[in-house]
Amino acid sequence: MRSAVTCSTRTAVRRCCRHVTQRGQQRCEAHRSWAEQIPAAGACRSSSFLADAVRDSVKEALTSRSINHIINGEASKPASLVDVPTLQSCDDFVYDIDLERQPSGKFAAALEARLPDPFRLVASDMKTLSDGCKELLGTDHPVLQSAAQYFFDVDGGKKVRPVMVLLMSRACNASCAPPPAPFALACQRRLAEITEMIHTASLFHDDVIDKADTRRGAPSANRAFGNKLAILAGDFLLARASVSLSRLRSVETVELLSTVIEHLVKGEVLQMRPHVDGAGTRAFEYYVHKTYYKTGSLMANSCQAAALLGGSPAAVQRDAHEYGKRVGLAFQLIDDVLDFEGSDASLGKPALNDLKEGLATAPVLLAAEEHPALLDMVARKFGRDGDAAAAHELVLRSDGIARARDLAIVQAELAMDAATRLAPSEERDALVALAARVVDRRR
Ligand code: FPP
Ligand code: MG
Repeated sequence: MRSAVTCSTRTAVRRCCRHVTQRGQQRCEAHRSWAEQIPAAGACRSSSFLADAVRDSVKEALTSRSINHIINGEASKPASLVDVPTLQSCDDFVYDIDLERQPSGKFAAALEARLPDPFRLVASDMKTLSDGCKELLGTDHPVLQSAAQYFFDVDGGKKVRPVMVLLMSRACNASCAPPPAPFALACQRRLAEITEMIHTASLFHDDVIDKADTRRGAPSANRAFGNKLAILAGDFLLARASVSLSRLRSVETVELLSTVIEHLVKGEVLQMRPHVDGAGTRAFEYYVHKTYYKTGSLMANSCQAAALLGGSPAAVQRDAHEYGKRVGLAFQLIDDVLDFEGSDASLGKPALNDLKEGLATAPVLLAAEEHPALLDMVARKFGRDGDAAAAHELVLRSDGIARARDLAIVQAELAMDAATRLAPSEERDALVALAARVVDRRR
């Protein structure tokens, strides 16, 4: 039997969607043509075009799948889990950054206060984390195994994400009545490993894209093993993380972490195609959106999953999500500041790399308000001879770096507000300390 449905649509991506059903097999041409449609995205100057395009494409696939059900007499089929999101919080990021808002003093107070050391509090769980990941990455292929395990052997990372997941697990568990356990549950410890594995997989791929030489103070995976193996090792990490995730037997957790992977990819694509309207504010909104996808989403959704796995109610899950999102934004803003302020040695990766890579980050975009000449350089990705050096000079002559740091502090303070809505516990205070440390770091 052969059926065809054609629907005309409003954008370049929503051009034509034809479904062919042949011996029970469906083929969605809308997805096949996604790669061909990328040039159309370049012509479109909407800051959220790519995000919209991906979302539209997925929506259409879902709608068209329902249409096929009707055509094939399957209209009465109950909606499956695949078609129905199980969580409201899988919504995309909403831009809510107030550039006028000043730090309130909570950050300074948190640095002064004698709060529990977040890393020490979960040290015993963290000791087994790298081993747990390595165990999950065991395979009978020695080269693939050593490539995938590489960063867990180097072990020079900050490990902010798993520490955050473990602390959030314990803080949320303490908020439950009766608490399920005084410590992180086995499933929450597993979640911490999965979070670190997804993050590491994304770095393997990122270093290939960025042609990086170093990471965590050591040769990057692409330098150690070559591009092809680095990509495959990243895929392998992601695959094993997915197996481990499915073994948690929590559909909602699978949905949250799968959304993270989608966001990581979207964030990277948004970064590749910078906003070129020339209007500073829209460019900044685009940057924050990209930052949420690349950095905030993993922290937000992992924190929410930690709360969910411990059986916390929806309100606590929302606070957990908010905490992770705000720390994520603060983390990336500080990363972008350190790219200007740090050295190769202090960062464990090259300084001033963003400009060289053509990336306009918060210090540049905020500096552009004082020096509009920067906007042209942003639009051409600092591609002309001397652009990177001139942009660097203008940023240093502006208050862009200080404003980006203040913005990070405000985000950290919002994270602290979310943490303090949880029931009092040592771990909750350690979450406040962690938000402060993320902003106060030097690498
Ligand atoms: C570091 O960014 C990179 C990320 C936070 C995410 C990268 C995501 C991808 C490459 C998409 C593929 C995702 C998966 C899960 C395989 P950066 O270059 O700004 O930071 P850096 O200076 O540390 O390299
Ligand atoms: Mg990079």
